[in-house]
Amino acid sequence: MSRMRRAAVAAVGALALLSPAACGGADSGADQEVEVFTWWADGGEKAGLDGLVAAFDEQCDYSFVNGAVAGGAGSNAKQVLASRLQQGDAPDTFQAHAGAALSEYIAAGQIEDLSALYDEWGLTEALPPGLIDNLSVDGKVYSVPANVHRSNVLWTNTSVLADAGITAEPTTLADLLAALDTLKAAGISAPLAIGKDWSQLMLLEAVLISDLGPEGFTGLWTGATDWNSPEVTQGLENYKRLLSYTNTDRDTYDWTDAGKLLMDGKAGFFLMGDWAPSDFEAKGFTDFGYITFPGNGDTFQWLADSFVLPQGADNPEGTKCWLKTVGSAEGQQAFNLKKGSIPARTDAVEADYPAYQQSAIQAWKTGTQVPSCAHGAACSQGAIEAANSAIGKFSSDQDLAGLQKAMSAAAALGKN
Ligand code: BGC
Repeated sequence: MSRMRRAAVAAVGALALLSPAACGGADSGADQEVEVFTWWADGGEKAGLDGLVAAFDEQCDYSFVNGAVAGGAGSNAKQVLASRLQQGDAPDTFQAHAGAALSEYIAAGQIEDLSALYDEWGLTEALPPGLIDNLSVDGKVYSVPANVHRSNVLWTNTSVLADAGITAEPTTLADLLAALDTLKAAGISAPLAIGKDWSQLMLLEAVLISDLGPEGFTGLWTGATDWNSPEVTQGLENYKRLLSYTNTDRDTYDWTDAGKLLMDGKAGFFLMGDWAPSDFEAKGFTDFGYITFPGNGDTFQWLADSFVLPQGADNPEGTKCWLKTVGSAEGQQAFNLKKGSIPARTDAVEADYPAYQQSAIQAWKTGTQVPSCAHGAACSQGAIEAANSAIGKFSSDQDLAGLQKAMSAAAALGKN
């Protein structure tokens, strides 16, 4: 909690002592706040957060304080959080990606071991063991996942494709390139919408899944696949080619700005995680379709949002109630119905979800799972930052050998 906010809470607390409503005292938790730090500031993301807050209000006797800092994929929030943690000003809880992105917080002793709470709340049985592994170090589990998102989805503007005469879904990279050429010939100058660094990294990852296959791709982050192989060079060349179909002002765009290009009919395709449709819907756009990124086959590239109990949180009991809500069946349903992701819990009822999420629940169960680097499942924060900077540099200098070298160095910074 920030110092100013703490002072305000202290003042409210002093007043409460004088009022009859304070009879329950601090034990009731009635006027204790829980500051929840996320990057879900508006659109579909805020709708998801609101769903979770509604479940929290039902289940807990604490008040939610919104500590959201806007910026896709935490591009601004992560810096603000790092400086708050350094100053000993931790929020009561913060959003963090499951997987390697938790590793620095754990190594620095900034987040608490939640293993006992997992047993108490039944999470050990309710969550898939593979996901729990991604939240654990040395057998201790450090965060509670709210969901599973899929990142390798290509969203389409149905009318733009139909107007250009594209009727068949592209299933390979060659099909996608042909469709992009068709759109260009139809007057769409930048048919593949894209945003800045991390969203370009998502495109690179999707292309590498197509070119290396799921196992070869996963090996890029564990050290089993050589970043300097000719197959990777070929993948980078394909990436460079695809980038030439994107909006040239991409480095100034957050993902919502790039999504707007699709919504406005200025692009036919947009690669983005499945948080995109809830944002489209929040903005009244329904003329969209979706396909798995061409060439990815049945690969489900995953990431999961989770929440932690920071060391030194002002209200650890309130945080525990937030975490319990996040892990509960009701909390996951309230959140995911709005957020577009699927519940991390295995007891979710498929029929409760709309068509896209039903297909994602099936694909998560039956497809080949690979982790996302851009969203922390495969890469530590340090590796993500280095990869984003390599990709941003390539966006302007187009130096393919430089990209290959820098990505190899970035991957070496954080293996899962
Ligand atoms: C998060 C999603 C979020 C997306 C865009 C990802 O890193 O996991 O929850 O919607 O970023 O901000």
